[in-house]
Amino acid sequence: MNVLTVVGARPQFIKAAAVSGPLRRVANEILVHTGQHYDSDMSAVFFDELGIPEPDIHLEVGSASHGAQTGRMLEALEGVIVDHRPDVVMVYGDTNSTLAGALAAAKLNIPVAHVEAGLRSDRHDMPEEVNRVLTDHVSEWLFCPTSNAVDRLALEGITDGVHLVGDVMADSVEMIRGRLSVDRVHALGLQKPYAAATIHRAENTDDANTLRAILELLAGLPLTVAIPIHPRTAAAMTRHEFEWPPNVTVLEPAGYIDMLSLVANAEVLVTDSGGLQKESAMVGTRCITVRNETEWPETVASGWNTVVGTDAAAAVAALDSPVPASPPAGFGPGAAERIVELLAGA
Ligand code: UD1
Repeated sequence: MNVLTVVGARPQFIKAAAVSGPLRRVANEILVHTGQHYDSDMSAVFFDELGIPEPDIHLEVGSASHGAQTGRMLEALEGVIVDHRPDVVMVYGDTNSTLAGALAAAKLNIPVAHVEAGLRSDRHDMPEEVNRVLTDHVSEWLFCPTSNAVDRLALEGITDGVHLVGDVMADSVEMIRGRLSVDRVHALGLQKPYAAATIHRAENTDDANTLRAILELLAGLPLTVAIPIHPRTAAAMTRHEFEWPPNVTVLEPAGYIDMLSLVANAEVLVTDSGGLQKESAMVGTRCITVRNETEWPETVASGWNTVVGTDAAAAVAALDSPVPASPPAGFGPGAAERIVELLAGA
């Protein structure tokens, strides 16, 4: 079996790392990097730390507007798929690289396997929501992380090819859990106690009022806040001519082991990331989500995550909520193996 895997952005390197090992035991994997994320601290560090094989093909698409970025990927991926004629094209998550891979394959009648299918925020102004809805609707294999995701697909009439496999990010975390350490936190210049934070979503960075409200929320936390900075957010801070609050320590984008070391040793994580909302629970740290909704309601129902929007008082109140005794159910390892078994058994 020839599987052509398309990755391009940080969270996809992390997810593909978990699947690639088991996949390569039963299939020939052709790894394509679109180049959506290209800085070494956004890309190469993840390949090194997680032992991901060198991409077979690098498209070097880089940054552009959504249409131009997705269009360049689509055209280039079509050529790659025609050349390699894979049995399956595997895509991850909800980025522009996901949509381009899915669309290029579907147009060539190659089955699409979508890892992390069925997630929904119900926000159609989020580029990620557009990407995931469209990807699900052209996919033949829909690998869902949660039963909620299965239900969401059914509401859209998608029931064929849907498999509840669990969350591959639980496998990614297990790959590096033994390498997490407080020494890495100290090496970043931090001492406990502190809060970790990440902010990168377009809806949180592009609008000046929203970003200002988030800065006020961070300023209101009674802790030092360590924030590895995403290039989009760094650019937005400059564009809006904003300054970081005095209790915020800005760090370079972190690799995976540093990031999870930072989260594991933090009093709390404040984030708008999808992945980190679960990873924080997996390493035993509660999460405050700076959005108005979440694709991961299980993290909220289990008491690990509080969705506060930009409400600073709600964020402070969430600090006092007790940390649950056990991780959220259904977020254990094994999803990557299940995906590979299903594909291999087809
Ligand atoms: C993308 C995904 C998002 C995912 C995130 C993980 C889409 C629509 N969004 O958002 O779902 O959570 O990746 O990080 O695909 N940039 C650099 N260096 C890089 C990469 C990007 O400077 O290595 C800059 C770009 O020039 C751009 C900005 O960062 O201005 C945003 O990059 P982009 O790929 O558009 O989306 P992300 O915000 O990273």
